[in-house]
Amino acid sequence: MKKNKISKNWIYRQKRDIYVKQSKLEGYRSRAVYKLKEIDQKFKLIKNNISAIDLGAAPGSWSQYLSSKIKKGKILAIDIIKFEEIENIYSIEGDFTDQKKQREIIDFFQNKVDLIVSDMAVNTTGNKNLDSIVTGELCLEAMSFSINNLNENGTFLSKIFMGSSFNEIISTGKKYFKELKVFKPPSSRKESKESFVICKYLK
Ligand SMILES: C[S@@+](CC[C@H](N)C(=O)[O-])C[C@H]1O[C@@H](n2cnc3c(N)ncnc32)[C@H](O)[C@@H]1O
Repeated sequence: MKKNKISKNWIYRQKRDIYVKQSKLEGYRSRAVYKLKEIDQKFKLIKNNISAIDLGAAPGSWSQYLSSKIKKGKILAIDIIKFEEIENIYSIEGDFTDQKKQREIIDFFQNKVDLIVSDMAVNTTGNKNLDSIVTGELCLEAMSFSINNLNENGTFLSKIFMGSSFNEIISTGKKYFKELKVFKPPSSRKESKESFVICKYLK
């Protein structure tokens, strides 16, 4: 399909999408917020007094949700893309895979963290399979960072794509966490291979 046809389809779909409409009404920067909201409603991940990290945060709807729910804990958000500030959130512009950025995150908290969420995804190569492989690598990097920096009772939540590194992500998660669930929230588009992995309690 030609590129301008794809973008016309995308615009058409966006206009009809109830989650897009709802996010505008509720003042969220992206429909992606409903995925986190639905995951939170099911798995009860976010509490008022926890510390949290949002990886791949731009344009910022997950961070907006975290900020509205966490009033007594530190929150940090990072993305390669610059995004508008959000109340109660310390934001970093940069590549999460950069060791210096990871050090900056660790220094900000000084302690282990309760929740790490990652919606990181790449959309750069024009090749869906390749993008999904790179996104899988990002998830594995985020999981490895979480294993080293979460509290014993902490939670790691990440976007994953079926295929590519799915098996490696699941086996690594099961090796290091006591509980692992895969969940596709209702607001995640049916035609998308996206799903989410929720890992709780480090072994
Ligand atoms: C689907 S969007 C996130 C949407 C976000 N959860 C929200 O609710 O607004 C994926 C984001 O991952 C970011 N990303 C991709 N690779 C990254 C990396 N290596 N480090 C930090 N962010 C990255 C992209 O720049 C993009 O903004």
